[in-house]
Amino acid sequence: MEHDMDFENRIIAPEYLSEDSDIETSLRPRTLNEYIGQEKAKENLNIYIEAAKGRGETLDHVLLYGPPGLGKTTLAGIIANEMGVNVRITSGPAIEKPGDLAALLTNLSDGDVLFIDEIHRLSKSVEEVLYPAMEDSALDIIIGKGPSARSIRIDLPNFTLVGATTRAGQLTAPLRDRFGVILRLELYTPEELGRIVTRSADILGIGIEPNGAFEIAARSRGTPRIANRLLKRSRDFAQVIGNGVITEDNAKIALGRMEIDPLGLDNIDRLLLTSMIKNYNGGPVGLETIAAAIGEESITIEDVYEPYLMQLGFLSRTPRGRVVTPAGYKHLGIEFQEK
Ligand code: ADE
Repeated sequence: MEHDMDFENRIIAPEYLSEDSDIETSLRPRTLNEYIGQEKAKENLNIYIEAAKGRGETLDHVLLYGPPGLGKTTLAGIIANEMGVNVRITSGPAIEKPGDLAALLTNLSDGDVLFIDEIHRLSKSVEEVLYPAMEDSALDIIIGKGPSARSIRIDLPNFTLVGATTRAGQLTAPLRDRFGVILRLELYTPEELGRIVTRSADILGIGIEPNGAFEIAARSRGTPRIANRLLKRSRDFAQVIGNGVITEDNAKIALGRMEIDPLGLDNIDRLLLTSMIKNYNGGPVGLETIAAAIGEESITIEDVYEPYLMQLGFLSRTPRGRVVTPAGYKHLGIEFQEK
């Protein structure tokens, strides 16, 4: 079985890994113009930024949602850059106590962007500090306990909260309602990823032929973070088995050795589909059952594996459970039988 490939070591994990740090910073576009893809989100954001700047106001709070690795942190940086302000970056789990958030908020300068990644993971008590901060740029501090408790209000600088989450549905309604701009990020097309790979190779000084870039793009499951990681690994192969330039041929070899198939599926994707077919006749089967069968968390399956398998049309969600489609069978070379 292919069970032994743990998620942390998965080269196509869309989560941020420490090895990404150098490339992510040097490759990160700084302006909306440089940012490739997400055309709908970009066009609207551009209008909101221009309008806020025209009025000399702070940009309204922005919620970015969509699968991991699509550039939410990058967009927060671009928003700050375009608005001509600073960005402070933190995450839901990092803000443990209400006082942690109060400290962050009081240290902002007027107009700054506060980026909170995984904002759905804020605790209730921290979230409650955020409400008056978002609504009135104010901090309500409770003094004392019991019947004599009273609250005093401290004014905060105006700021733009940029929140990121994998699913907007995970947010509480009061928090979601306080975002004026809600942008959904989509998986990138292979064409867009090809442009991103070419741009990254340029910045990193990596020689790459257009077909080599396309090969990497096509196997990056719609995710720039994966594309940039596969670019680096393919360069290693090109250097050792070729003349250093990434070509279609050596990219195919490199990606094959990394066990990433021509559509970007890895062992875990294939395990997920084959176990549904072999054990549950291709579905419908419940998410929890699949999770137990392949030893992954159901939330990981929902956020990481399913979006891409659904985009490829290999898996569908139905009210009775998940189903492998005929196209999914075909890709795995297993004959589909009408049920
Ligand atoms: N690098 C990572 N994501 C990118 C994007 N959307 N545009 C350009 N370069 C990127």
